[in-house]
Amino acid sequence: MRIYLQNMKRFKRYLVTSALPYANGPVHIGHLAGVYVPSDIYVRYLRLKGEDVVWVCGSDEHGVPITIKARREGVAPQDVVDKYHNMIKNSFEKLGISFDIYSRTTSEEHYRTASEFFRTLYDKGAFVEQTSMQYYDNEARQFLADRYITGTCPHCQSERAYGDQCENCGTTLAATDLLNPRSAITGSVPVMKETSHWYLPLDRHEEFLRGWILDGHREWKTNVYGQCKSWLDLGLQPRAVSRDLDWGIPVPVDGAAGKVLYVWFDAPIGYISATKELTPDWERYWKGEDTKMVHFIGKDNIVFHCIMFPAMLHAHGGYTLPENVPANEFLNLEGEKISTSRNWAVWLHEYLVDFPGKEDVLRYVLCANAPETKDNDFTWRDFQARNNNELVAVLGNFVNRALVLTDKYFDRRVPAPGPLSDYDRDTLAELPAIRRSLEENIENFRFREALKDAMNIARLGNKYLADAEPWKVVKTDPTRVETILNIALQITANLAVAIEPFMPFTAARVLAMLDLENFGWERLGSVDLVPAGHTLGRAELLFEKIEDSVIEAQLSKLAETKQANAALAPAAPAAPQKETVSFEDFGRMDIRVATIVAAERVEKTKKLLKLTIDAGVDRRVIVSGIAEYYAPEELVGRQALVLVNLEPRELRGVLSQGMILMASDATGRLVLLSPTDRVASGATVG
Ligand code: 2FM
Ligand code: ZN
Repeated sequence: MRIYLQNMKRFKRYLVTSALPYANGPVHIGHLAGVYVPSDIYVRYLRLKGEDVVWVCGSDEHGVPITIKARREGVAPQDVVDKYHNMIKNSFEKLGISFDIYSRTTSEEHYRTASEFFRTLYDKGAFVEQTSMQYYDNEARQFLADRYITGTCPHCQSERAYGDQCENCGTTLAATDLLNPRSAITGSVPVMKETSHWYLPLDRHEEFLRGWILDGHREWKTNVYGQCKSWLDLGLQPRAVSRDLDWGIPVPVDGAAGKVLYVWFDAPIGYISATKELTPDWERYWKGEDTKMVHFIGKDNIVFHCIMFPAMLHAHGGYTLPENVPANEFLNLEGEKISTSRNWAVWLHEYLVDFPGKEDVLRYVLCANAPETKDNDFTWRDFQARNNNELVAVLGNFVNRALVLTDKYFDRRVPAPGPLSDYDRDTLAELPAIRRSLEENIENFRFREALKDAMNIARLGNKYLADAEPWKVVKTDPTRVETILNIALQITANLAVAIEPFMPFTAARVLAMLDLENFGWERLGSVDLVPAGHTLGRAELLFEKIEDSVIEAQLSKLAETKQANAALAPAAPAAPQKETVSFEDFGRMDIRVATIVAAERVEKTKKLLKLTIDAGVDRRVIVSGIAEYYAPEELVGRQALVLVNLEPRELRGVLSQGMILMASDATGRLVLLSPTDRVASGATVG
């Protein structure tokens, strides 16, 4: 019964938040598909419906990833966040991501709001102060919070796990869970040192959270509800809300020098600060029962938005709690996990340069492929196919036909409809049905389905034109064509409204072609949106085909990234050093520079080559196991280092007199060693 009431609750206004992206790098398609495109669709829809909605976001400018980046680039953290904040803000704007405010957590308002929030909880006794032993880098003279500590993940053995999380298997970690811990600053092995911090005792809020989520929000997405349930079933622990760092908001209590608020304490408060910056009326959205607050996030943020932030708000009192947290899964790129550090991503700012005017194509593809219920894959081939087969062939084609035919037969004047046939009526009756499905899907955060609904209007229009065949009927019954095109134009106008949340640039262009203002959501489904006698604007093509060469260029860019990553990949550990040998032992080895004068395969073997060498002292034959790596003809003329006094031995019936020296890497690949300058055959090595 309670659940039913929750879902039926009417709200007077909406407060929508989208995860604050870290200002330590640009935004990529994974961020967009997971968070910003869906939230933009949701908010545009609410606005079209005339709802009272505010949508806040901003850059998350604290935390270790930012200080690490600054250290690597040899600049101040403020420089890093300034650079990326501006870049992220600009690129969002260009993609039509229509936040009401895009703020940042280094703003004055945010410092004030987050400090006050902490102070209120502190004064209420909502924290416990605890002393613990934490990793400390003696060389850097610094505690190693969160990502400053790296090591091997105890769950998946990845050697790149961080002190707060393993990105490979997604497990949340404590620094002390890591095997072989190392400082990310100096690479040294850290020591343990005592420090004290403030903790939010999440266990105190467990009962409240269980009731609120597990009983009260069964309608949340399965992935979100399931993660919350497993956290709650494991039992909540106190969580530190301060860090020993010099970048962040200083802990606002006496005796806290050198300590700042934990980034995950201050970042969600950023939603409140941003609302304050947006409107003096911010309390209307944050306080009271009538606001529906929705947090759009990626799955790695679930615990912070469903457990930690609500516990903070609950401890504080008087604040709105989220009504829903429609977290998405992750988007992969060409079958591999998107990674900022490995540059395996499609970056928004680069896309905007490479595909000018195609903002909506990206929005469309990311929504159509959004990882709503499971991880999903972005591929450039799919991007091309969706553009060519859906946007060009379905949406663009329909709008173009409706407008061009009206231009051709009626000189851009909207014809009046005559009597409607049953087929006309059935076609038009689909519009309100599509609208209902579209609304239900958007309101339940099923944006992929909602996009299909919107596209179904174009499909409906295409089918209608194909069946009604105005280009044939015009020869026999020109009056009937007036009705057909009137209907086609009504469908076009409906389409312009329905696609606005998903493809705002295209919607605006369609409206411009119809020479109409946006008439809002309420009239969606109507069949009198375009008045008879109205003169249309000029028709133009909405989308163009994307050629193979364009896709291939993007694929080669990724291939280059892959190559660069392979070159940078840390070499496999070197084989351990052998026992010490005496100088005399070494001196007994006679190593010479030799020139290979002939080379041939040893019959019936895959690995062996018979090399004839000029060793200076003589010409001789050596059998060498390098046939898998070198063709005989590429060796002739090359120089090699040869151990000439190795005792001869017979290999496959050939007497081998010495050994060609090779380097062997961890994969077992052999590489011929040659002097970098040409040397006379027989020159000694040592
Ligand atoms: O995961 C992230 O990218 C975080 N910067 C999200 C923060 S969301 C909010 F709470 F601020
Ligand atoms: Zn792991």
